[in-house]
Amino acid sequence: MLKSQIWNRKHLLGMADLSREEIISILDTAASFREVNRRDIKKVPTLRGKTVINLFYENSTRTRTSFELAGKRMSADVINMSVASSSVKKGETLIDTLANLEAMNPDVVVVRHSESGAQEFLAKNLDAAIINAGDGSHEHPTQALLDLLTIDNHLALMGWESFEGLTVAICGDVLHSRVARSNAIGLSTMGANVRFVGPPTLMPAQVEEAFGVRVFHRMEEGIKDADVVMMLRLQQERMLGAFLPSVREYYEFWGLNHDRLALAAPKAIVMHPGPMNRGVEITSKVADDLSHSVILEQVANGLAIRMAVLYRLCGVEG
Ligand code: CP
Repeated sequence: MLKSQIWNRKHLLGMADLSREEIISILDTAASFREVNRRDIKKVPTLRGKTVINLFYENSTRTRTSFELAGKRMSADVINMSVASSSVKKGETLIDTLANLEAMNPDVVVVRHSESGAQEFLAKNLDAAIINAGDGSHEHPTQALLDLLTIDNHLALMGWESFEGLTVAICGDVLHSRVARSNAIGLSTMGANVRFVGPPTLMPAQVEEAFGVRVFHRMEEGIKDADVVMMLRLQQERMLGAFLPSVREYYEFWGLNHDRLALAAPKAIVMHPGPMNRGVEITSKVADDLSHSVILEQVANGLAIRMAVLYRLCGVEG
């Protein structure tokens, strides 16, 4: 991996904004923070005096916890705002909420929201640095960065020197997945071949042109010889219409089991952003098979990536 220190951005809104050099810069910074997370004393003074606010309008386990830990391990003051017990419940708008938080002069506000484009709107209308922790079905850039770091760690084991030529199959509910979009953009920027694999009802229109991916409507064809099989969560909470006959039938056609995984490259890694629907998009046997599954490595790398992103956006390098 090339070493690079390029980073001039105030916000992190999406992978579509990032150049290859900027992605490499974040991955390099995260690799150095990973060492901090393995120490007995997991704390450095890097962000002392900085303030980070987590504002999550949607549920989260991994992203919110890792942003909180990332800030705390670098000695920032971190506030987790509970939307459920805030004045949002009295009808306060998103922009009013942010404007009031901004009046307290935070350095970074990490926002997750159900509306695509919410963070871009905030970044245009407010002064605080904004990190997109997921906006609707649009983007989830720190998930894509942690996935790139995880794949990068396994490139040599899979027989590759770089992302150039690597084949990544992103499988399942692509339509509702901000993870699929951010990963497709990031992986393409890094030179990988990206496949979207899923039923026509869960595939966005004209996706090949929009993302430069190949689309497959049979799981067996889509994961054949893939180096990376990235399974997506079936997002039933975002489905307003009838997208599937049944969850059972979805598993029959699209669930990743060992028989299907055998079609991928012999050293293929299996990824999932979480939370997993075990027995729906992935079997427990595959999810827990550490000869292929890197799902918990993704979580560990998420912490390092969020440390790197906070470090870059706080501008501590001057
Ligand atoms: N992958 C991910 O965003 O997980 P959470 O929803 O738990 O943050």
